[in-house]
Amino acid sequence: MGRIRLLSETVASQVAAGEVVERPASVVKELVENSLDAGARNINIAIRRGGISLVRVIDDGCGMSRDDALLSLERHATSKIRSAADLQAIATLGFRGEALPSIASVSRFRVSTREAGAIAGTEIIVNGGKIDVVRDGGEAPGTQVEVRSLFYNLPARRKFLRSENTESRNIEHQIHLQAIGHPDIGFSLTRDERILFQLPPTATLGDRIRDLYGVELLQRLVEVTGAASPKIQISGFIGQAGLSRQSRSQQLVFVNGRAIESNLITGGVREGYHTALMKGQYAVTFLFVEIDPAAVDVNVHPAKREVRFRDPNNVREAVVRCIQQTLEHARANWQEKFTAPIRPEPLAADSVKTISDLTLRSEVTATEATHRELPHLGTVAGVADPGRMQRSDIVGQAHRLPATPTDSATDAVALQREALKAAQQQFEIIGVLSKLYVLMENSNGLVLVDQHAAHERVLFEELRRRMEQQGVPSQKLLLPQTFDVPPRDADWIEQNLSVLQKMGIGIESFGPDTFKIDSLPSFLDVSDAAQFMRKVIDDLKSTTNNASAMRLGEEMIAKTVCRHAVKANDPLRYLEVEKLIRDLLDCDLPYCCPHGRPTMIQISLAELEKKFGRKI
Ligand SMILES: Nc1ncnc2c1ncn2[C@@H]1O[C@H](COP(=O)(O)OP(=O)(O)OP(=O)(O)O)[C@@H](O)[C@H]1O
Ligand SMILES: [Mg+2]
Repeated sequence: MGRIRLLSETVASQVAAGEVVERPASVVKELVENSLDAGARNINIAIRRGGISLVRVIDDGCGMSRDDALLSLERHATSKIRSAADLQAIATLGFRGEALPSIASVSRFRVSTREAGAIAGTEIIVNGGKIDVVRDGGEAPGTQVEVRSLFYNLPARRKFLRSENTESRNIEHQIHLQAIGHPDIGFSLTRDERILFQLPPTATLGDRIRDLYGVELLQRLVEVTGAASPKIQISGFIGQAGLSRQSRSQQLVFVNGRAIESNLITGGVREGYHTALMKGQYAVTFLFVEIDPAAVDVNVHPAKREVRFRDPNNVREAVVRCIQQTLEHARANWQEKFTAPIRPEPLAADSVKTISDLTLRSEVTATEATHRELPHLGTVAGVADPGRMQRSDIVGQAHRLPATPTDSATDAVALQREALKAAQQQFEIIGVLSKLYVLMENSNGLVLVDQHAAHERVLFEELRRRMEQQGVPSQKLLLPQTFDVPPRDADWIEQNLSVLQKMGIGIESFGPDTFKIDSLPSFLDVSDAAQFMRKVIDDLKSTTNNASAMRLGEEMIAKTVCRHAVKANDPLRYLEVEKLIRDLLDCDLPYCCPHGRPTMIQISLAELEKKFGRKI
């Protein structure tokens, strides 16, 4: 007798179920997707014991006739596609006709369904893949599916389940995905008889995010702007620069309404944020990519969690561009708000007087002459001629603030000037805390600036501008160095010589696979030029697209500016602080340093009022 036998229908289903139904959250996903495909407006989900003992999904969708209900439990029975050609452009969430039979083969399963106009509905009970009962059912129009005792007939599978809490959290995450993906549909989740959330149908994604995650998060998001390309539309919300998470749990990505995991897209997101995201942290995204269904293959992953794009580079670039544009746009808005005049009305003279009593505040009244004498913060000058960029240039000699004019006549004049200035001024510096944090007032309340992070950002953008415009200033090496590279790297260097030179690297060919370096960017502190070059080549080659050659230069700068930036405990004088703040506000991305740490924190008046119990 031969050794090969056909598996029974039940065993075959269980094998197939292994791919589709990994854990209770997969059951929830499949059932909710079916409800969405059925045009439901409201979907109510209940789970017990992490979904292991019960998952119930009730929808008000189109329901099924008795024949269809019976067919839906057969493998490869679907209403969503008819031919292989339909597979080319799938517009529904389901398409394989596998979910229901798979789930029914590994659980105690009950479906009760009724079409809108029908007199009676149908109830079907299936145990471990065998239909036990088919009878009339009397529920409201729509479909109810109950899945009990998941994996009761597959003990091996059951052992792999995690704790009830973990499984519940997975389910919650799954429903969050669906709820964010479909704000116009109402969702509720009950866990062990306790209602976890009830989300009414909402008009906008913003409303849904607020209902699910709270208004605090929504306020820290920016709406995606700018058409990505005619073929790829991107919309949704992303976190402001500086907002990040330690995991990907709030990095939600949808392609044509389907929640997916995509390294391609999250890679694009990271590149779009670039220095606005801390290393090792993840951006918060609610990103919706709309693309011609024919340009994406959704039939590549058993749980439909991944997709394949016909033109991945195009998608990635669209995402990068979209994130960059959105952050730029957000910055412009933010800057406008940040620098709104503090007091629209000119101040009365006596109110100025009381303010001027505060320590430090009087420094604002320094005369013009004093202003001129003070050395400016050495950012730009220092970079223009890096040889000169010494600590004393940057930080000045002492923390002594300019002397306050004492005689009363000067005082009065100065106060008047101060009143005028205050009327126009958009923010005011109150002082420096702990030699590191600049305290400021703007129309919104209190602002704390980390002077070190701020200086890093200013230096970084200055250097980057130079690199873009005229190339990075470079410094001759004492001894030119030659080094060999493998032929492929040599090719690469030949092709990129001009980029490298623009980055301040004086490099030229010196034989077949040999190069000579005679200068390096002057802001770099490199002891072994050849080793440095090998690293540059490795890094540059690994950047995914060639257009990011600039990116490497940026990395280089980001790593080095830190050394030159004002350190914590470096005392700055008032004018230096003021210049630093103005320079910071002029930056492309003022609110975080090149490593993604925040440069400033705003504490609004409303927050202060709340803290002091003036308002609840
Ligand atoms: N909640 C529901 N309301 C109405 N019809 C449903 C519902 N759930 C399932 N169906 C019907 O049953 C069929 C089979 O469902 P099933 O989930 O097994 O397959 P599918 O959704 O077509 O594909 P996939 O396996 O990719 O999910 C569906 O095509 C649909 O016609
Ligand atoms: Mg389905």
